[in-house]
Amino acid sequence: MEIPNHVAIIMDGNGRWATKRGLKRSAGHLEGSKTLEKLALHAMNMGVKVLSVYAFSCDNFKRSPEEVTYLMDLIVKYFNTKFEKINKKGIRVVVSGRKTNLRPDVLAAITNIETKTQDNQNGILNICFNYGGQEEIIDAAKKLALDINNGLDMTNFTREDFFKYLYHDLPPIDLLIRTGGELRVSNFMLYEMSYSEFYFTNTYFPDFDKSEFNKALFMFQNRDRRFGGLNDQKSN
Ligand code: FPP
Repeated sequence: MEIPNHVAIIMDGNGRWATKRGLKRSAGHLEGSKTLEKLALHAMNMGVKVLSVYAFSCDNFKRSPEEVTYLMDLIVKYFNTKFEKINKKGIRVVVSGRKTNLRPDVLAAITNIETKTQDNQNGILNICFNYGGQEEIIDAAKKLALDINNGLDMTNFTREDFFKYLYHDLPPIDLLIRTGGELRVSNFMLYEMSYSEFYFTNTYFPDFDKSEFNKALFMFQNRDRRFGGLNDQKSN
């Protein structure tokens, strides 16, 4: 069974999940974080090496102050106390995104989880937080410009080489999942998803359990990935 090396998830639908139940939107984010924890453990058990998730975009600061504060507090709580099982299972947590505009306790929680799990070898959970795909490319271009100023020879620079300048040098995404029914990529991991397979589902993220994840894996196994080339049968 072919398992994707790198899976990325746009965790959408938390708010609607809560509203449908007459709850505040924050209840959906709380339930979503429980789902995320279970999914990360399941994905690594299935042989996925990297799981990237969109937890907070640069543009999410446009939401109400109450919701932004709730999401910041949730991250602090999860990074400082709740990711113990993830750590025990040997999963390394990395955080991708800009470190500007973040509260000191949020920055400290990010450093805490990254440091605590840095030697773990059983997979990587990449949490995209205060993240934008175009912003990541701009930040990478700035780092590259510095190296060019310091004499880097660009003659044979490849698209693979550019990965080293992204927030973390992760492999390309094989499977991109979006829950919650919208059909767009919302400025998520634009450089990394260039050849990924897409899986869209109407299921709200809090309900996206192991069996829903397995459906996406099953779909992935039945896709014909050609990376711009042709199949053997079609090439003559
Ligand atoms: C999108 O759903 C979801 C978010 C903006 C936040 C996602 C965050 C989590 C799942 C929690 C992450 C927690 C940790 C510990 C990393 P939405 O609110 O836009 O839903 P809607 O489209 O139904 O309104």
